[in-house]
Amino acid sequence: MTFKVKDHYYHKAKKENFLARSVYKLEEIDERFKIINKSDIIIDLGYHPGSWIQYTAEKIGKDGLVVGADIKEINNKLLNLSNVRLFQKDVFTIENMAELGVVDQFNVVLSDMAPNTTGVQSVDQIRSLNLVEMVFSLLPRFLKPGGNLVIKVFESNDAQVFLKSQKKYFGEFHYLRPKSVRTVSKEFFVIGKNFRP
Ligand SMILES: C[S@@+](CC[C@H](N)C(=O)[O-])C[C@H]1O[C@@H](n2cnc3c(N)ncnc32)[C@H](O)[C@@H]1O
Repeated sequence: MTFKVKDHYYHKAKKENFLARSVYKLEEIDERFKIINKSDIIIDLGYHPGSWIQYTAEKIGKDGLVVGADIKEINNKLLNLSNVRLFQKDVFTIENMAELGVVDQFNVVLSDMAPNTTGVQSVDQIRSLNLVEMVFSLLPRFLKPGGNLVIKVFESNDAQVFLKSQKKYFGEFHYLRPKSVRTVSKEFFVIGKNFRP
């Protein structure tokens, strides 16, 4: 059964020319919570290979901009998109908006980042939570008041405690495990709307 689900999203992504099956996670989140709007300026943290960039670029239209940053080499397959700007960077080394060639803060921060996993659950949970905490600490610099956040989180008790502490910074705070998440995965997504730094 799990295998069929994997196959379905994998083949669907191939057929629809998306660079990864993860696109269906963002699509479900966006359809449900209305995160991305026309003309938005968006940052995608850990964008590679870039299915979220493809989805976002289409949705924001020609007057919007999506900036992608990833440790990996820039994915040339995305260079034909005129409203996309890509950087090869560790996102935690970005010191200011000027480094990304933008003046204003972003309307939306997306993060599908995951740490390198060891297979040892307790270690992976700590690494994942560190990453999530670091992204939340970037928000006052990156995210406009009133802006939206989508971030991947791996389930743990400590993650739940941390997320509860962040709820107050958003007008709305939702948890969702999209249908396309693999059955074996512990990941879910946090959707914060209307940021109140
Ligand atoms: C699951 S993939 C993202 C898939 C993407 N959402 C898509 O739709 O194609 C996670 C990415 O996060 C990147 N990443 C992890 N830590 C990072 C960091 N500190 N800075 C930049 N990128 C990072 C990894 O290199 C990897 O490419």
